[in-house]
Amino acid sequence: MDALADRDYFSDYSILRDPYSYLEATRSKGPVFEDPRNGTVYVTGFEEVLEVLRNNEDFSSVLTPQGPAMPLPFVPAGSEIGVQIEAHRNQFHGGDQVVSYDDKRHADSRSLLSCLFTPSRLKANEAFIAEYSDQIVRNAVGKGHCEIVREIAAPFVTLVIADLLGVPADDRQLFMDVIQAGTVPGSLNDEDRAVADHPLQVMAGYFIDYVQDRRAKPRKDVLSELANATFPDGTQPEAQEIVRLATFLFGAGQDTSAKLLGNAMRFIVEQEGLQQMLREDPRRVPALIEEVLRLEGSSKMTARLARKDTQIGGIKFPAGTRVMLSLAAANRDPARWNDPKALILDRSRIKEHLAFGRGSHVCIGAPLARVEIRVILEKFLMYTSHIDIAEVHGPAGDRDLEYEPSFIIRGLKEMHLTLTPAA
Ligand code: HEM
Repeated sequence: MDALADRDYFSDYSILRDPYSYLEATRSKGPVFEDPRNGTVYVTGFEEVLEVLRNNEDFSSVLTPQGPAMPLPFVPAGSEIGVQIEAHRNQFHGGDQVVSYDDKRHADSRSLLSCLFTPSRLKANEAFIAEYSDQIVRNAVGKGHCEIVREIAAPFVTLVIADLLGVPADDRQLFMDVIQAGTVPGSLNDEDRAVADHPLQVMAGYFIDYVQDRRAKPRKDVLSELANATFPDGTQPEAQEIVRLATFLFGAGQDTSAKLLGNAMRFIVEQEGLQQMLREDPRRVPALIEEVLRLEGSSKMTARLARKDTQIGGIKFPAGTRVMLSLAAANRDPARWNDPKALILDRSRIKEHLAFGRGSHVCIGAPLARVEIRVILEKFLMYTSHIDIAEVHGPAGDRDLEYEPSFIIRGLKEMHLTLTPAA
């Protein structure tokens, strides 16, 4: 194994900040590679990642929130460990979140969210996105500068989810404050904070009140629809299940979307001629977003646990194998993408990238993420004649821009921009 591939993806700061050379070094060991030191299997090939994402029979999602690096809370016994997984589910970090559920429990839980992602709900949400982004971008352009990740993107995406869920206007500032105080998922800098202070716990306190209130006195609002949503068989979920889903949306749609805006903006300002081209033809912004999702998608990886003896790319693995699915590597796999490191706006079949996952757990918020990033980028392009990275980050070609030290999230900590208003 060469020196680079020998380092630890989950704890090495330089890899967390720049994962791509490491992932290429790992890929050179094969698209499916088992680390002999800890038994974790790294999947870097596009076809192989897709194969696992689609195989819910053999792979459980229970590991998704905690990642594949930690040991299992039990010793796998036999060729089928589904019963063991369920018996220990509450010992997995995030084992009570929709993204970690399997089978019917997953389908039931996911169905509760369907009332939020109807075309009419998304249309109403888009109107909010357009109005709010117009306000914040005009304000920034008026000042001539902004910091786009923490100051613009983070509160913007929190408010968009709050609007989607119908959080009352008076409570929205509190949600933004709580989120602002958190760290990104998978971050090495997540200090030992009291559980009760965790942003999602604080929000849960509000959501339990909303759900109880809307169950007792339903109104004509989104929260009432969500609070009274039923499973496909017509039964009512426990209030806590609704609370977990609602708060999970804030976690799932926060850093992912906020960082995507920063990642996209970096290409726009650094790629020669790109911003002028997009200003002249804003219909190309969606294509740019898809290429950025492929090249710099904000979720670098997800994880699965083999619950049966199985295979990946023809290689056999026993039940209990922990699998790291590198979405970042799959999206740059030269076996799938021509010239994979280049930003090419008219790539054919670009939407086949795996930035939002695939299969039954595919990101339910993908349509929302695409809309919010498109609309705010269009505003930036419309209200400016030029956008540049501020001098504080150093000269072009030698920028000092820092990425979050997270094994999940790919995104800049911050990026200061100068904004020249449109004539
Ligand atoms: C650029 C932005 C986003 C990216 C890159 C992203 C990425 C992903 C990925 C890769 C998954 C699949 C995980 C797996 O299969 O293990 C996922 C699931 C999920 N995402 Fe997103 N996401 C984004 C935005 C959002 C937004 C805005 C929301 C909500 C408003 C959201 C809600 C969810 C939910 C609820 C799931 C779990 C679905 C399930 O388990 O059935 N995401 N996301």
